[in-house]
Amino acid sequence: MTTVPEPLSEAENPVRSLDADALRTHAAAALTRSRARSEVLTGAVDDEELSKQHSPLMSPLVWDLAHIGSQEELWLVRDVGGREPVRPEIDELYDAFKHARADRPGLPLLSPAEARAYVGQVRRKAFDVLDTVPLRGRRLTEAGFAFGMITQHEQQHDETMLATHQLRTGEAVLHAPDPPARRTGPLPAEVVVPGGSFLMGTSAEPWALDNERPAHPVHVGTFAIDTFPVTNAEFAAFADSGGYRQERWWTAEGWAHVQRHGLIAPRFWRREGGRWWRRRFGIDEPVPADEPVQHVCFHEAQAYARWVGKRLPTEPEWEKAARFDPATGHSRRYPWGEQEPGPEHANLGQRHLRPAVAGAYPAGASALGVHQLVGDVWEWTSSDFRPYPGFAAFPYQEYSEVFFGPGYRMLRGGSFGTDAAAVRGSFRNWDLPVRRQIFAGFRCARDVAGPDGGN
Ligand SMILES: [Fe+2]
Repeated sequence: MTTVPEPLSEAENPVRSLDADALRTHAAAALTRSRARSEVLTGAVDDEELSKQHSPLMSPLVWDLAHIGSQEELWLVRDVGGREPVRPEIDELYDAFKHARADRPGLPLLSPAEARAYVGQVRRKAFDVLDTVPLRGRRLTEAGFAFGMITQHEQQHDETMLATHQLRTGEAVLHAPDPPARRTGPLPAEVVVPGGSFLMGTSAEPWALDNERPAHPVHVGTFAIDTFPVTNAEFAAFADSGGYRQERWWTAEGWAHVQRHGLIAPRFWRREGGRWWRRRFGIDEPVPADEPVQHVCFHEAQAYARWVGKRLPTEPEWEKAARFDPATGHSRRYPWGEQEPGPEHANLGQRHLRPAVAGAYPAGASALGVHQLVGDVWEWTSSDFRPYPGFAAFPYQEYSEVFFGPGYRMLRGGSFGTDAAAVRGSFRNWDLPVRRQIFAGFRCARDVAGPDGGN
């Protein structure tokens, strides 16, 4: 039997066709949205809490704030704008590659008042640059790329600062309404993704970062993937059955890690009165059964998958499940299509301070019928961080290239703490396989025999 070749192409990005004024409005709105969130996260605690370190894993919040301003100054004010430096003497203090997070509290950092004044001053200059610089003709500013890069940078620090809030002790200071309840009826537990090529990565998204580029065909064998992320109840069954004490579910590296650190459950969980409780942004509550599990590391995700007779999806499998439209052969921008993420599609942007239950976002399902790939929790994949064929570092090597290699595992899809600007279907995140403070969960996959299966 011969098969018809699939038309591998990428959905066009509407941002690309915006005129200069519309692009400026789009960029300004994204910058303003990220600053509003930074202000909430840094305004929720007093100066003492802003300046102290809540965990050796994290920077003091006031470091994040001034670092956001420092990067904005370097790229938008000095490079794109060609303006005079605002505070060149602090460049080195806020260079993430010069000082490990654990060392940052000991640096002569700007005070909270100085940091706020600094980021405000930089933002006024950045907006002035945005008003005047041409958004065509130079790669760094084409379709507003540098403004998109800096807004994504701030939003990524907003998620990091949210993780700092999760690690801090003391009463709750952040508040948000709960996410929507389940809206779907019962669905099959898995979706079979037919084997064949799809277009991975992007060459059409103007604000895509270097590691997402270029778009390239990837063959993926037939496989099945869970319709929803693994829930707390499902993961608790693994913990309750002794999964953390049984070596056979773990890789050698994972088992050594569990033993060394005495892990018995996801981070922030504790057993009390015969049930699991958790601490979430200063609130103690019973672990909700139907929410996607979070605060598990790659090793825990991998062990659970083995316990249920499955495995983690590879990064190409995850992206195919999210983006591939079998009716057209196109790769979509988002699981639901080309439309920018709205509240009906996914739990994003710190609108809610927890994942939504499985089945809460039917309008966000992918063409193949996989739900909640974007938002709620980042999802661990089994892949390490590799460049795509044709990768070229841009605009600097430290963005991605220095992290390539086997040390990191890829996370996809974004969490409730991630902004809509950093969850396009091609977006790639990475972290160390032992990290648990991030808002990460997972879903499982397994091999299925199919016409293009048997990989
Ligand atoms: Fe940064």
